[in-house]
Amino acid sequence: MPRTLTRSHTHFAKAVQRLPLGVASNFRYWGEERTIYIKSGRGGRITDIDDNSYVDYRLGYGPAILGYADPRVDEAARAGMEMGGVFALSTEMELQVAERISRMVPAAELVRFSNSGTEAVMGALRLARGYTGKDDYVLLEGSYHGLFDAAMWHVPMHEWNRRGEPQVQPYSEGIPVSSRSFAHFVQANDANGLEEVLRQHASTIACLLIEPIMGNCLGIAADPEYLRAARALCDKYGVLLVIDEVKTGFRVARGGVQQLYDIKADICTFAKAVANGYPIAVIAGREEIMRKFGRGVAHGGTYTAHSVSLAAANRTLQILEETDALERISDYGTKLRAGMSAILKARGIAHSFVGHPSMSGLYFAAVPPRTYRDWKGSDYSFYNEMAQYLHDEGVLCEPDSREPWFICAAHDEQCLADTLRGFAKAADATIEAGAKRTKLSV
Ligand SMILES: Cc1ncc(COP(=O)(O)O)c(C=O)c1O
Repeated sequence: MPRTLTRSHTHFAKAVQRLPLGVASNFRYWGEERTIYIKSGRGGRITDIDDNSYVDYRLGYGPAILGYADPRVDEAARAGMEMGGVFALSTEMELQVAERISRMVPAAELVRFSNSGTEAVMGALRLARGYTGKDDYVLLEGSYHGLFDAAMWHVPMHEWNRRGEPQVQPYSEGIPVSSRSFAHFVQANDANGLEEVLRQHASTIACLLIEPIMGNCLGIAADPEYLRAARALCDKYGVLLVIDEVKTGFRVARGGVQQLYDIKADICTFAKAVANGYPIAVIAGREEIMRKFGRGVAHGGTYTAHSVSLAAANRTLQILEETDALERISDYGTKLRAGMSAILKARGIAHSFVGHPSMSGLYFAAVPPRTYRDWKGSDYSFYNEMAQYLHDEGVLCEPDSREPWFICAAHDEQCLADTLRGFAKAADATIEAGAKRTKLSV
């Protein structure tokens, strides 16, 4: 039975009169027929306003690491609310949370808070520039670091014809052309390419800004040797290593991707999983660098370290540090991969998984990608179509194949069984639709 989206359609028609695209963020618009509005979320599932229930693998792009409305975190948040909210003055809890973060992430010698991933990365880049006195930075093809001008130069791979070099373009209108010259692009897992750029431009490059597991590009993972080489090259050329852990932080390991790879950033950023969805982000790093805040480099914000978000962060991080939540998340992700793999194999569909089991990219080619360019060699149109059927079957993934599937600690055996049932049906529906199209075209 296909879903009914009557209420979402009706609401969309009203919302679009007051809200651009009928939504609060461009990414939430899935077309007039498929944009949904959410009524509630509990554990690993969300329900839309038509009462369709979904096992959710978007989890708000990752934040709900313990599951929606986790009672332990929400209780802490309510206590945070009792404190009074926003004072634009500091509280004792900031230190408590900062100490926990430093314990979990050794590179986080000193800590500052922000409100969103974008804000944290923007602050980290400013800090790197302020500390080094240099303006340029290096980005990886396929990376996403938030919606601010410096991070909004990208390589639109869907437009690339697999010949020559893909072109760097602004992600949006409104990005000053003059900001283009600061960004240098390299491919993931290419230490020689990185060294070439650093050799030529080290005198103007402040930092390499990198996500070792690319949370917006299937979860393409850095080879450990590549990341070690990148660390060494940064040191050799006097360039800071900024690791963006907005998605991987407190998810792929207690100490994030830096623990997984045994690597230390000079500056690192965190957001999504920090407070199970309450808005808070973190800029952290080496003491000498972090002390530039207030001594030349500006950082602040009225809502920074809001008492509700901070209390939620304190409790979420405690749970992640002291319980087996992350191990359970990883186990579930491994089982999900195995179940999907069996279904696809039985249907003769080449595929592989990328990234960490807690945030898996499903890739429709047998050999997993090592660069964003590899994505062009996969059957991503099969994914795009299957995603629509998955939604109809009550499995919510991002309709864009580059977004990984996020797991939370509340995904349970029932979620897994429902997902695999829906996944098999969606795979069949996609194959059938493809076969029909082929028949029509001959
Ligand atoms: C790696 C990374 N950095 C930064 C951001 C921006 O975070 P936010 O959406 O909270 O501004 C994101 C968002 O998805 C991200 O994945």
